[in-house]
Amino acid sequence: MDFDLIITNGLLATASDIAPLDVAIKAGKISLLAPHGVLDTSKAAKVIDAEGAYVTPGGIDTHVHLEEPPLFGGKGRSSDTFETGTRSAICGGTTTIVAFAPQAKYMPSLLEVLKDCHSRAAGNCYADYSFHMLVGSPNPTALSEFPQLVQEGITSLKIYMTYEALQLRDDQILDVLYTSRAHGITTMIHAENGDVLNWMTRKLEERQLFAPVYHATSRPQIVETEATNRAIALAELMDAPILIVHVSSPSAAKHIRESQTRGLPVYAETCPQYLFLTRADMAKTGDHGFEGAKCVCSPPPRDGVEDHEGIWLGLRNGTFTVLSSDHCPFMYEDKEKGKKSILSPEHPVGRFAGIPNGIPGIETRLPLTMSANKLPMTKFVEVTATNAAKLYGLYPRKGAVLPGVSDADLVIWYPEGRIKEGVTNGMLHHNVDYTPFEGREVTNWPRYTVLRGEVVWDRDGDGLVGRKGYGEFVRRGKSSLPGPRGEEEFDVSKF
Ligand code: URP
Ligand code: ZN
Ligand code: ZN
Repeated sequence: MDFDLIITNGLLATASDIAPLDVAIKAGKISLLAPHGVLDTSKAAKVIDAEGAYVTPGGIDTHVHLEEPPLFGGKGRSSDTFETGTRSAICGGTTTIVAFAPQAKYMPSLLEVLKDCHSRAAGNCYADYSFHMLVGSPNPTALSEFPQLVQEGITSLKIYMTYEALQLRDDQILDVLYTSRAHGITTMIHAENGDVLNWMTRKLEERQLFAPVYHATSRPQIVETEATNRAIALAELMDAPILIVHVSSPSAAKHIRESQTRGLPVYAETCPQYLFLTRADMAKTGDHGFEGAKCVCSPPPRDGVEDHEGIWLGLRNGTFTVLSSDHCPFMYEDKEKGKKSILSPEHPVGRFAGIPNGIPGIETRLPLTMSANKLPMTKFVEVTATNAAKLYGLYPRKGAVLPGVSDADLVIWYPEGRIKEGVTNGMLHHNVDYTPFEGREVTNWPRYTVLRGEVVWDRDGDGLVGRKGYGEFVRRGKSSLPGPRGEEEFDVSKF
């Protein structure tokens, strides 16, 4: 057989083009692209007829929390393991994830943390995977390990301007930016002003305002906007590339866009929760007033349609480089390590400040965004796959369909008009007892997911057909998007 798989009759959509092309796959790689009817399908071990539907590069989700300890408020522990999280990923069309390797403040070494994450992921993943370091303590040991991280294929890290367990001071942020820049690492920044939101929280609690919706009240847009502006200022001082993660607020997006217009290497990410959820979802009064906890994440979903429109606009006009899930799953009912771990006799309907921050969304990211029909198809591919690959050093092995070069990671969608249904938690494959997107209508879903030439999801057939352990660690190179503007080392005396 000349080919392992040929996908016929598809409309191949990449970040740059849409064309009616058949895709031939051999040994896990894209082998040939040809106009419909040219390839001899009798020479393929397997043929899939896409029936005129879109065929896109496999999704790349570069913001995923799996098996993480309590870091994001209260006693919450991620409910998804590498096994269940990556299982859910492929069933929603995501073939590569980048999860966090979290260093808590008391841990000196990043390499030790990385080793531990490798041992938990190896042999357990359904999707290909990598790690960003999550730097809780930029101590001298940790900073000295940055060159080794790059050698190990880890070329990005995340830092926080909030959360008691993780918040860095501005001088610590400068230490990270300085060292990252020197070694070609991209710094991801969680931009919320922790001191301001803590103060707001104290004031709300003094007034006995504890319900989940006050999570949003404690974090008005200015909390995010100020921190975003400060992060950009620190990065500009250092001439270091940054990515502002999970941007929720159009006013923060304005600062980002302005810095990009000035030519700074400032990138940004948003997530489906900032396109589909609002403060009203946190104000839901079911379950004795606690139901809104299902949507508590940081930054919080904003007020309404105008905010959503601002974020969609930022996706369309290129302010946002990537659309990730920020999948940070906690069980709702679990009273030990889930959302309900904050319930107590003293606070029978909870206390927003102790609700673990984060929501699941790894499987719904692509179908919800595709179904919204608000992005041109090439832009959809760009922000859900191609740009992620470029930004985080995976391109063109991932995020592209270049013959002889790219892994055969693909999603085959349904022809238009075939699907119209509400999302239910029962149809998802994560290890979470709810989805914040319950009932939302989708008009498409990955019909097949293909990872390195193997069909791993066959929705109309046996569903999940991938294997635990098939997912491989992917060693990443440096970002191929523009980095520092100057070549020379940072020189403090030049100021
Ligand atoms: O609420 C969120 N976003 N939880 C995940 C942790 C983080 O900051 O990304
Ligand atoms: Zn964050
Ligand atoms: Zn996150």
